[in-house]
Amino acid sequence: MKPLNLLITAGPTREPIDPVRFISNNSTGFMGYTIAQTAKKRGHKITLISGPCSLSAPSGINLINILTAAEMFNAVKKEYIASDCIIMSAAVADFRPAEIKRTKIKRSNMLQNIRVVNTQDILFWLGKRKMNRVLIGFCMETSNLEQAAKKKLKEKNLDLIVANKIGSGVVPFGQGKTSVLIIDSSNNVVELKYADKGNIALKLLDKIELLWYKKRNL
Ligand code: CTP
Repeated sequence: MKPLNLLITAGPTREPIDPVRFISNNSTGFMGYTIAQTAKKRGHKITLISGPCSLSAPSGINLINILTAAEMFNAVKKEYIASDCIIMSAAVADFRPAEIKRTKIKRSNMLQNIRVVNTQDILFWLGKRKMNRVLIGFCMETSNLEQAAKKKLKEKNLDLIVANKIGSGVVPFGQGKTSVLIIDSSNNVVELKYADKGNIALKLLDKIELLWYKKRNL
């Protein structure tokens, strides 16, 4: 099959509070990096937009490092046009401090509150512009996993969503095995139980290649 141009986002974003502190999340980037590595082995061309994490990117890919959700949005705006498929596996922060203090907040001036504002929903933005690209989202929920994932799939105009459960002893971050639902735009649900992330990446790429082929050859 023809190599696809894949745009993959991975890792967390960091939203600064002051020069030493930030709001972020537990994402390690492992899922996105594993997809990038697996797709590279299958011959696809990869642009990986990565938040801060301690993983090394596979050689021969276009790696763009960013810190904040705003930087990720700028990078996505530049890169999505040339892509056949966009995989938003990054854990983009949903909110950032409204104000970034230029000097370190001292203990004696302790903050009572941090006012936050929403970041751009990059995936929603992409959903409005996807044309015949394949668009993949991820989500992580503590409750109503399938229902919430289906709602996001529809609202963000996705072709597939990969839904992770978190809580009650289930920790989907990092290199361990995890269970996910992969849901398509006809609401078909495939459950991968206790799978390693290499396996999830393989299954996801099978589906992406098929979707791309169907979109371009109808
Ligand atoms: N996402 C994004 N931009 C954001 C936040 C999230 O593009 N500012 C993407 C993520 O990369 C992921 C998907 O949206 O693929 C779902 O993220 P999630 O935070 O679960 O979605 P939200 O719509 O923000 O829903 P919730 O209110 O449950 O956080």
